This record gives sequence, structure tokens and C-alpha cells, in this order.
Amino acid sequence: MNNRVEQALNEQVSKEASSSQFYLAMASWAENNGLNGTAKFMYTHSDEERFHMLKLVKFINERGGKAIIPQIEQPPKEFNNLENVFERLLQHEIAVTQSINDLVDVCLQEKDYTTHNFVQWYVSEQLEEEALARTVLDKLRLIGGDKGGMYMFDRDLENASIITAPASDNQKK
Ligand code: FEO
Repeated sequence: MNNRVEQALNEQVSKEASSSQFYLAMASWAENNGLNGTAKFMYTHSDEERFHMLKLVKFINERGGKAIIPQIEQPPKEFNNLENVFERLLQHEIAVTQSINDLVDVCLQEKDYTTHNFVQWYVSEQLEEEALARTVLDKLRLIGGDKGGMYMFDRDLENASIITAPASDNQKK
């Protein structure tokens, strides 16, 4: 496997692992603050990120590279409020999208079209994740500080089938 591509893929492994930890921290915070719907949403999201990481690890190894399991930074323990949680989630996803774009760039520069093709799954996933984060944040801003609205929001989040990739992609998982 091309060295530069391998290194870029391993950097992405680290980012997906950090995302999983970050959302796990959000899930735990939400659970401790009586926001069970948000907690469920975040636990699911954390699992999805772990899956994103695993998919990369397996791809690197299957193509003759060496996946490196990274050390992970401690995520935040506290968040100001729910809006702050989702703002940070959106900012985090925007940064991940940038990193996926950089990875696509390296694939093209190194003419590694197989990896380029593989990475397209992440390009689509980022589109969905950013859109979802924006939608949720818009809803929270509409609610403002209204407690009843917040209760409904949390309940809706618990019942929503969120952060799911299209059915065809789920089957590949
Ligand atoms: Fe795997 Fe949310 O980026």
C-alpha cells in the first residue's frame, strides 16, 4: 500500500476513534442530566463512529498496510447545555469532513483509485451527518429555553431512527 495513503488512512482511524469517545462523553453527560433520548442518540452515534474506525482498520490491513490503533485524548467531561453539545457535535463533524476531503486529495495525488473509491462512502456519510447535526441544532434554537419544548425534543430524539446510513450501506456494515 502507498505510504502516504496508509498514513492518511491511519490518521483517519484516529479521528474516528476520537469521535466515538467524544460522543460517548456526550451520551454519559446527557444520561446524568436526565436527557435519556439524547443519551440514546449519542450512544448510537458513538457506536457508529467506532464502526467507521473499524471499517478503516480492516481496509488498511486487507490491502497490505498496517493499521495503527491510536491513543485517544480524554474527551470533555462537562457541557454547558444541550445546544452546546450539538454545536460541538456539528463543529466536530465539519472538521472530520475536512479531514476526509484531505484523504480524498491524497488518494488522487497518489493515483490510488481503489482507496479513493473506498473513501467515497465516508464522503456521503459526512454529508448526512453534517445535515443531521444542523437540523437538530436548528430545532434546539427554535425551542430556546422552553422546558416543555426541551422535554419533547429529548423524547423525539429517543424514538427517532437517527444517524442511520442508507439501507444499502447498513447491509455492508
Ligand atoms: Fe465518522 Fe461522524 O464521522
